[in-house]
Amino acid sequence: MVKTVIFLCLVITIVAGNPCAQKPDVSAKECCDFPMPLEGALVEACMGKFGAQTQRVMVSMMSGGPMRGACVAECLSNATGLMNEGQVNTELLVAGFKMAADGKAEWDPVIEKTIGDCSGMVQALGGEFDKAAALPPLDPADPICDARPGFMFFCSVKSLFLSCPAKYYKASPQCDSLKKYAETCPIGF
Ligand SMILES: *[C@@H]1O[C@H](CO)[C@@H](O)[C@H](O)[C@H]1NC(C)=O
Repeated sequence: MVKTVIFLCLVITIVAGNPCAQKPDVSAKECCDFPMPLEGALVEACMGKFGAQTQRVMVSMMSGGPMRGACVAECLSNATGLMNEGQVNTELLVAGFKMAADGKAEWDPVIEKTIGDCSGMVQALGGEFDKAAALPPLDPADPICDARPGFMFFCSVKSLFLSCPAKYYKASPQCDSLKKYAETCPIGF
C-alpha cells in the first residue's frame, strides 16, 4: 500500500516535472505558415502502409525511449529521393522547400540554413542512427527503418518554425507556448 502510494507519487512527479510530456494543443502550421513540399496523396499512402509502426515509434520516443526509425518518413524519403547512400540530398531538399515557399523570399535564407544545419546534424549523429537500426522493433511484425529521414523531417519543421519570419508568425499565447516547447523539448514536434 505504502509502496503503491510512493510509486504513484513518483510517477506524478515525473509527468508533472517533465514539461515536454504535454505538447501545447496547437500545430506549428497554425502558428507559422512555413513551406512544406510534401504532397498530401504521397503522405497518405505512406501513412496507410506504415502509420501504425510510426505511431508506436513516436509514442515510445516521446516518453523518453531511444531513437528509432519511423517508416512513414523512410517511405517518403524513398519516394522523393531524400537520401542518397546515407547522405541527405540537400540540393533537392532546398529546391523542394523553396518551391513550396512559393516566391516568399523571406524564407530562402531560413530554408538554406535549416537544411544545412539539419543535414550537418544527420552527418554528426551517424553512429546514433546505426544504433537505432540495431534495436529490435517495438512490435515483432514491424519493419526496421532508417531514422535519418524522420530526424531530417522533425529537425526541418522545428527549425523553420523557430526561425519563422515575423511576417508569417501568428503570435498568440498558445503559439508562444508552442515556441517555448520547441525551444526546450528535444522531439515530438
Ligand atoms: C525504402 O527503400 C529500401 C531500398 O530499396 C527498401 O529496402 C525499404 O524497404 C524501403 N522502405 C520503405 C519504408 O518502403
